[in-house]
Amino acid sequence: MPAVSEKGLKMPQSPIRKLVPFAEDAKKRGTKVYHLNIGQPDIKTPKIALEAVKNNDLNVLEYSRSEGSEVYREKIAAYYKKQSIYVNSEEIIVTTGGSEALLFTMGTIADTGDEIIIPEPFYANYNGFATAAGVNIVPVVSKIDDNFALPPISEFEKLITPKTKAILICNPGNPTGYLYSKEEILKLAEIVKKHDLFLIADEVYREFTYDGAEHYSIMQAEGLEEHAIIIDSVSKRYSMCGARIGCIVSKNKQVIDAALKFAQARLSPPTYAQIASEAALDTPQNYFDEVITEYVSRRNTLISELEKIDNVKVAKPKGAFYCIAELPIDDADDFAQWILEKFQLDNETVMVAPAAGFYSTPGIGKNQIRIAYVLKEEDLIKAVAVLKAALKEYTS
Ligand SMILES: Cc1ncc(COP(=O)(O)O)c(C=O)c1O
Repeated sequence: MPAVSEKGLKMPQSPIRKLVPFAEDAKKRGTKVYHLNIGQPDIKTPKIALEAVKNNDLNVLEYSRSEGSEVYREKIAAYYKKQSIYVNSEEIIVTTGGSEALLFTMGTIADTGDEIIIPEPFYANYNGFATAAGVNIVPVVSKIDDNFALPPISEFEKLITPKTKAILICNPGNPTGYLYSKEEILKLAEIVKKHDLFLIADEVYREFTYDGAEHYSIMQAEGLEEHAIIIDSVSKRYSMCGARIGCIVSKNKQVIDAALKFAQARLSPPTYAQIASEAALDTPQNYFDEVITEYVSRRNTLISELEKIDNVKVAKPKGAFYCIAELPIDDADDFAQWILEKFQLDNETVMVAPAAGFYSTPGIGKNQIRIAYVLKEEDLIKAVAVLKAALKEYTS
């Protein structure tokens, strides 16, 4: 039998999706499953975006330009200007989701065996993209006891080698909910300039900041023109995960030229979805105001319910819609599977993402889970009640 590649064997399973068969079995048994495992918001997509697809009169569903339609890129540049990020349409490549933006960026800046430093825990699929690109992730640990703040810069410097190509951050963070301050971004700016590295910021949750805190983009920092690369996406901003539209943004022409060649190889991002995404840019501010208010309530409810459980530690998120909770158990993988297979409370159970897959240091995060607060408050309350009862039975 022909063998699959080493890479194929090494590709990590997504911790967010790997328990799906157990959830499906629970559903087949008639048990309701609360999905706290995945960042699929239940928020409605702006009508304006859905209508644009329904109302267009295309006769041929053509490819678009590889870098994305010009009108769409012009409109994205105008959106960024409102965020005090000054780029033009030539500095943007539209991709098939933020996922493809990450994959193209890794291919663009790193060769096989090169290294990217990432504060962990990080968005688990970075592991998959790095494996696909042959890149080694070098983690720098951020801690739940510090609310997952940026680790000291000296910790980054210790890890820089001739193979280091970039530092990658997610801001606001998935899975931590941490929002980097301007001071933290400026510290990172200094270090990437000093060591001539790229600074990649995954800013797909840019709008999701709470308690009056403002997002500070790496592209607002001065002197980073050649270093900064933003990864972006419409998936969460407009609750359009199924559109599969994202982008790479950089003022570094070499980066854009190289990324464009990856984009040309896959021909074009999806046409209908660009139409929807372009229209979504006209979403009125009150949509975001309502969405943010909703997420703040959900976060507050989730955190206060979790804090009521004995021996559960939780970091309070300042952005995005995830949190990491530390549980009084040894193996969250086993616990998460056990809840789905063996536990129910009033015929309801819960699916969470074991957090070990969000780390690349082996053995860390084994007693942690990631929770996505993408369900309405009453469901969050019920889901945490299930979790609490499950913990009691599991640990007794
Ligand atoms: C931090 C982060 N980056 C990138 C992505 C990829 O998103 P998409 O490919 O849907 O744009 C996600 C999705 O959950 C994410 O959480």
